[in-house]
Amino acid sequence: MSRENLSSKFNRVSTLSVEGSYCVYLGVGHCFKLIDEPGVFKVSLAGMAFGSLLARYLNKECINSRFLDLGTGSGVHSFLLKGMGVKSITATDISKEAVFVARKNELCNFGVNTIEFAFGDLFQGLPDVSKKYDYILFNPPGWRTPSTSFLETFNKSVGVAGLPIDSMFYGDRTLERFFEALPDHLSDGGKVLIGLNSLVGIRQVMNRLQELHAGKYVIDCRLLERHDFPLLFYTEEWARIRNLLIDEIMSWARKGEAYCCMQEDGQIIWSYEIVELTLWER
Ligand SMILES: C[S@@+](CC[C@H](N)C(=O)[O-])C[C@H]1O[C@@H](n2cnc3c(N)ncnc32)[C@H](O)[C@@H]1O
Repeated sequence: MSRENLSSKFNRVSTLSVEGSYCVYLGVGHCFKLIDEPGVFKVSLAGMAFGSLLARYLNKECINSRFLDLGTGSGVHSFLLKGMGVKSITATDISKEAVFVARKNELCNFGVNTIEFAFGDLFQGLPDVSKKYDYILFNPPGWRTPSTSFLETFNKSVGVAGLPIDSMFYGDRTLERFFEALPDHLSDGGKVLIGLNSLVGIRQVMNRLQELHAGKYVIDCRLLERHDFPLLFYTEEWARIRNLLIDEIMSWARKGEAYCCMQEDGQIIWSYEIVELTLWER
């Protein structure tokens, strides 16, 4: 099957589009209708896998815990939490547009807004900065920092049209800043469920977490699930520069900065790893 056919097959499997909206099914009857807005991250195969894992992971004890959904995008994982009975949910995103759409999505799916939405870079903009969360969910931008030469060509060909570049790239930098601030927002023994894309450079970011906090915290790191997914190009603008994107990604893999492999048909396969981190103060 050609790369194009495979990509469109996976796109069809992941969502069912209905004029300006699409449906995402996460299992156990949890299905959400979401607005399809160009500047808002559309739930991907990885986001669906993350949601389905959450549906398995959550138990009755979690319902009274405090949850933070960081980089909420469409709000899909917060809706699953709400659908499963979690009462304290805060959801935030760096994109004002995403938060606006997520709030509308909540109203459309539940008829009432109870999720506490915020907008800002990582933990900035949270309504109560001193509040600590028992669970923090994060499905961060999956690709690492691009090279200068890639950026020059990208800016010339895509510019500011469509999806912002930092909704996919700079994941390594975002994760480092996330890890730096994490202990101020996570309760002792609290858990982070994080979806790591092998194109971010997982070994380096996990090493960084240890460097930052192993002196003060015991850090438990458990791989909950791993998937191999095909590389998809989420917008028309990005699909137009697919060869440029592939060259950039393969150069990371050659340098050992990221992991992926190219199949015989040219399809790039990357690894999506859902990891549970627990931090206890020493
Ligand atoms: C890979 S998408 C995941 C969206 C959603 N959680 C999902 O799984 O469908 C990453 C999201 O993180 C947001 N984001 C990127 N950098 C961020 C930052 N520094 N602070 C907060 N959100 C950020 C993006 O706007 C985007 O909505």
